[in-house]
Amino acid sequence: EVSASFVVVANRLPVDRVQNPDGTVDWRTSPGGLVTALEPVMRANEGAWVGWHGAPDEVLDPFEEDGITIVPVPLSTDEVADYYEGFSNGTLWPLYHDVVAPPAFHRVWWDAYVRVNRRFAERAAQVSDQGATVWVQDYQLQLVPQMLRMMRPDLRIGFFLHIPFPPVELFQQLPWRREITEGLLGADLIGFQLPGAAQNFARLVRQRVSAEVRRDQITLGDGHVARARAYPISIDSRSFHELSRSEPVQQRARDIRRDLGEPKVMFLGVDRLDYTKGIKQRLRAFGELILEGRLDPDDVVFVQIATPSRERVEEYRHLRDEIDMLVGRINGDAGRIGRSPLVYLHSSFPREEMAAMYSAADVMVVTPLRDGMNLVAKEFVACRGADDGALVLSEFAGAAYELKQAYKINPYDINDIKATLELASHDAPNNKARRMRALRKQVFDNDIAKWADNFLTDLDQTVTG
Ligand code: G6P
Repeated sequence: EVSASFVVVANRLPVDRVQNPDGTVDWRTSPGGLVTALEPVMRANEGAWVGWHGAPDEVLDPFEEDGITIVPVPLSTDEVADYYEGFSNGTLWPLYHDVVAPPAFHRVWWDAYVRVNRRFAERAAQVSDQGATVWVQDYQLQLVPQMLRMMRPDLRIGFFLHIPFPPVELFQQLPWRREITEGLLGADLIGFQLPGAAQNFARLVRQRVSAEVRRDQITLGDGHVARARAYPISIDSRSFHELSRSEPVQQRARDIRRDLGEPKVMFLGVDRLDYTKGIKQRLRAFGELILEGRLDPDDVVFVQIATPSRERVEEYRHLRDEIDMLVGRINGDAGRIGRSPLVYLHSSFPREEMAAMYSAADVMVVTPLRDGMNLVAKEFVACRGADDGALVLSEFAGAAYELKQAYKINPYDINDIKATLELASHDAPNNKARRMRALRKQVFDNDIAKWADNFLTDLDQTVTG
């Protein structure tokens, strides 16, 4: 039986399944930021990672991968529909992103959310040593902290929310607002991306829970103390940088520009295909600039990568159709033989290819309507070799809080996006360099290792009980 003194609990496991030609299955650690940051802590502490392996109706035993004990949590097909696609991504995701799409409230979704959260909590309780530290991740598992504390009062429990935490005025729409609030308060330390989110949470607690709130410290009736603070997440900046500087990636970046017809300006957008990302707004802005003759389709190209995501959720299918149509219209209106101003790729790419794209691009365009952080913005900055390139960044991305020198836009204001795309593509090199220098300093000084260390150090200093 597994026993660990440091346990991460997340909806997804940090490993991807790879199917061998002979039909057998292997697992490979996914190169995501969180795993990279936590690997050293995991190795030093007999770490375990509790999460869903992504295949419905499949029960798997724990296994070791790269020095981490992987503890798979099974989900039935109905639970995937009700807990994952339903409550997590049909209710909480839009509600927490400023209701940019309407959240749906269904009691069967909620029931599945409670049931699955309890399963994750039970599994974490089973594998945790006496006095272990457990770090619960994200909106899919907000009930786990309290459930776990009831089962195992000896544990030190952290929680980090990777997405925004909304203002009370929106959060209070949720029929299960009390349960979620209390679920989170089971943690000793609750981390948010931004101070504003931590403040939203503190205000909510003041209004709705009988607890004493003093700055970031919340004392409940039973004496339990929870702290709510901001820890803006980051990336493994150095590894991105080194990858982007490697010769194969540099060569690939040159090939990409050549294949695009050596444009004067290459714009780049990289997103999960999600309605929070403002993809339609940015494409519309680009299309209008071309049609108005403010950008010359012989000089510029916009590469938009949209990674398939949550494809069984209605809003996501609808968005895909809308974007397909918009892309077709823009290229139909502005393209000519041998030249389409918009290159749209609906697929995901390995890290090397992403690093090559970031290196090749002149203007990175990040326009979410609301985003917890947006790591793409930071990845672009980390991949720049010199103080060149321009980052256009939405004020509504968490990243805007730290990346103050980006070319900021309001994504709801198409004219603002247009003016800023023009400026970012034509601005004087010394202006761009000044901005990029400041951005790079920010991204290299604050990487994901520092983020994890800040959180875990604070968690270590909390008094459990
Ligand atoms: C966001 C969430 C993560 C989630 C990821 C991918 O970044 O904060 O918790 O894992 O999107 O979404 P998916 O639904 O595929 O896990």
